[in-house]
Amino acid sequence: MNAIAKDRAIGVVGAGTMGGGIAQLAAAAGHPVMLYDAFDGAAETGKARIAKGLEKLVARGKMTAEDVADLMGRITVVGTLDDMADAAMVVEAIVENLDVKRDLFAALEGILAPDAILGTNTSSISITSIARDLRHPERVVGMHFFNPAPVMKLVEVISGVATSPEVAETVFETAESWGKIAVHAKSTPGFIVNRVARPYYAEALRLVEEQVADAATIDACLTAGGGFRMGAFALMDLIGNDVNYTVCKSVFDAYYQEPRFRPSIVQLEMVNAGRLGRKTGRGFFDYADGAETPAAATVPAKADAAVIDDLTLGTAITVDGVAIQPTDGRRAAAIARATGTPTVVYDHIADTGTHLGIATSPDVPAAVVDRLVATLSARGVTVTHLPDWPGLIVMRTVAMLANEAFEAVMQGVADEAGVDAAMRFGVNYPKGPIAWARELGLNRVLSTLDAIHDLTGDPRYRASMGLRIAAEA
Ligand code: NAI
Repeated sequence: MNAIAKDRAIGVVGAGTMGGGIAQLAAAAGHPVMLYDAFDGAAETGKARIAKGLEKLVARGKMTAEDVADLMGRITVVGTLDDMADAAMVVEAIVENLDVKRDLFAALEGILAPDAILGTNTSSISITSIARDLRHPERVVGMHFFNPAPVMKLVEVISGVATSPEVAETVFETAESWGKIAVHAKSTPGFIVNRVARPYYAEALRLVEEQVADAATIDACLTAGGGFRMGAFALMDLIGNDVNYTVCKSVFDAYYQEPRFRPSIVQLEMVNAGRLGRKTGRGFFDYADGAETPAAATVPAKADAAVIDDLTLGTAITVDGVAIQPTDGRRAAAIARATGTPTVVYDHIADTGTHLGIATSPDVPAAVVDRLVATLSARGVTVTHLPDWPGLIVMRTVAMLANEAFEAVMQGVADEAGVDAAMRFGVNYPKGPIAWARELGLNRVLSTLDAIHDLTGDPRYRASMGLRIAAEA
């Protein structure tokens, strides 16, 4: 076992949202913790905030008062960095500024033992560049927690160019010994989660821009249809459109205007309007007291329509001369033209879905749609009749997430298991995008991307070579 021993002290610099959470975690794991903040009283306030949070756990019966007292007893507020001299590792969660982080680590280098680890919780700065001017850049590593740190399972352990593999391994195992799911990642813009998650927002915004559906309908398809815990628009409203837009823009710029990361004017206009989300009371949705929750556009089931007995979702069937099949990205009209058969495609991703988008070629009789809707409705599945658009909503989203995941793996940012774990535990996706794509069939994912790419001509939709090669294997 390579993890830092529980009797060794951990230093935490910056006692704000993230630093407080990290201090709590380390103390909960049994380490003595030293908490420092540059601003007078901030470390005390941070410690008090931890105590307050833990009291709520006691009230809910999740912790005993004794455990809380023990935990809090292990956290010591210190007044200077010199007080951290004995720490086996110091994790910084200070302001997101390269020069300030460099100065902090330079100061700590003069204080800590030569083998002490310098961890940074930065969410966007290159680990390589934070480490650059140090005497021992090999001991600098990203230890990227997600907010709230005590709750979110994931820790990205990020190696810069100079980070030693032993240091990364020690931090990996230490994070796991704190009850986290750790994944190794290479220092690249957005690391894993903030890069691979981009299409979740970007495709939803593009779908609105292309007038395929409104925000409420897209969110219903993603959650009830795709199994995502939160719809893209509800999530952007929670994160804050300003924050989300800034992250999009910084990843886009960091990758030299890579079109896959192009930010959205739809979101920029929300920022321009001051509709930042929950924090301003309005974003894509209205959070004012008594405001109506917008409903998804759905097709009502007709009571007199005959159900289709042999409909098995995921399998193509023919009903009254109409082909009904799961989407492979192609438009229903394109399939109908190629086969000479009127066609319905549906946005099938998970058998557990309770909301399904469908699209029809122009020659599909309304009576067949009525039968399909009645059949699905009898099974508890709500239907949205979408424009005949390549990849529909959920398939398009999952294909783009998987594409980004394969690209990241191809570039050695992390391995397949690491990317999948990062997305499941960093942003609570129901499945890792790579495992999900393999389950759906890599060729189906590829044909979805190719169909969108053909129609848009936008290089954003070009398939990753990593995905193409995996699909050939
Ligand atoms: P915060 O503003 O809540 O806390 C930062 C704390 O650092 C403040 O208490 C401030 O007084 C202190 N501080 C600032 N400069 C300092 C210095 N030179 N020396 C000592 N203390 C200093 O910020 P938050 O949200 O906790 O973020 C901290 C870091 O964690 C940033 O690098 C951020 O990018 C990263 N992060 C934030 C996440 C979030 O969702 N808030 C998620 C993951 C990473």
